[in-house]
Amino acid sequence: MLSLTSLNYGLKKIMDKAYIKDLKTGDSVKWYYVLKNKSKRTARTGKDYLDLTFEDKTGEINGKIWENAEKISEIINEGKIVFIDALVETYNNNKQLKIKEIREIFEDEISPTDILPSSKETPEKMWEKLENILKKEVHNSFLLELIKRISTKYKTQFLNWPGAKKIHHSYVGGLLEHTLSVVEIALFLGEKYSLNKELLVMGGFLHDIGKIKEIKDVNEKSETEEGLLLGHIIIGVQIVKEEAQQIIGFPKELLTQLTHFIISHHGSYEFGSYQVPMTREALALHFADYIDSQMNIFDNIINKFSGNGFASDYDRRIGRKIYIGEKE
Ligand SMILES: [Fe+2]
Ligand SMILES: [Fe+2]
Repeated sequence: MLSLTSLNYGLKKIMDKAYIKDLKTGDSVKWYYVLKNKSKRTARTGKDYLDLTFEDKTGEINGKIWENAEKISEIINEGKIVFIDALVETYNNNKQLKIKEIREIFEDEISPTDILPSSKETPEKMWEKLENILKKEVHNSFLLELIKRISTKYKTQFLNWPGAKKIHHSYVGGLLEHTLSVVEIALFLGEKYSLNKELLVMGGFLHDIGKIKEIKDVNEKSETEEGLLLGHIIIGVQIVKEEAQQIIGFPKELLTQLTHFIISHHGSYEFGSYQVPMTREALALHFADYIDSQMNIFDNIINKFSGNGFASDYDRRIGRKIYIGEKE
């Protein structure tokens, strides 16, 4: 049955490692991707189908399932690595997968590092850079103790965690990459505007730490119960408070300053901030966070662009298309 279907589509080749950026129209694909998005839709004809987005370390591609949409939807989950048997087609100038077979992978079927997008630099290298900045800028003994406690407890997760489920830095090492960037940008702003750099780098280091408990698993990127009900800001406040309370004599005002960084870093209430930034340092941290997350969204759209035009599709997250220009 499957081979017949393949013949009907004029099979060109069966791919081994079929990275998304290398897919060509007419290719037959039997390979693994992360199922990034899954939505059930109804065509104009009234027929239900599944609209899927797949990703790997090289890009993103859309896919459709026209048969048994309901049933198949129940056995595949967003954020998981799936195996697919599909044909690459072109639709509206974009490549897309017509899926014949899809299933979640068995344990140990493939190493997630072969598939999952990851940060450009190794997590170890990024951690070393972050540690060096903290060493250079932080001298207060309470803050040094806090860094030590948090590093001991969370370093392993920090090295691998994605920065988000979907929005920005949603790949292995993304949280650390984002944290390091925010600290570096904040440091630049701290120099420029004569801010308290010691506090600022602490704020950068801690601002998204709650994501370690917000996202369940680095491979699946699914949300924890805590993540859903509390969100990374409240979780971050809890983590920092819990550790600071173990340090005898930790000044209350210092904890308040650190907490303010965490609860105000999204900048405005409409973006989930619990407070607007009320110190020059918190304002600088917010902008460092904002520029880094937005640049990452832009970069991802540009890198994963596989269409033929000069602009990306409209992206709801940033409320615009992005000009791509000529791709070499
Ligand atoms: Fe955040
Ligand atoms: Fe952030």
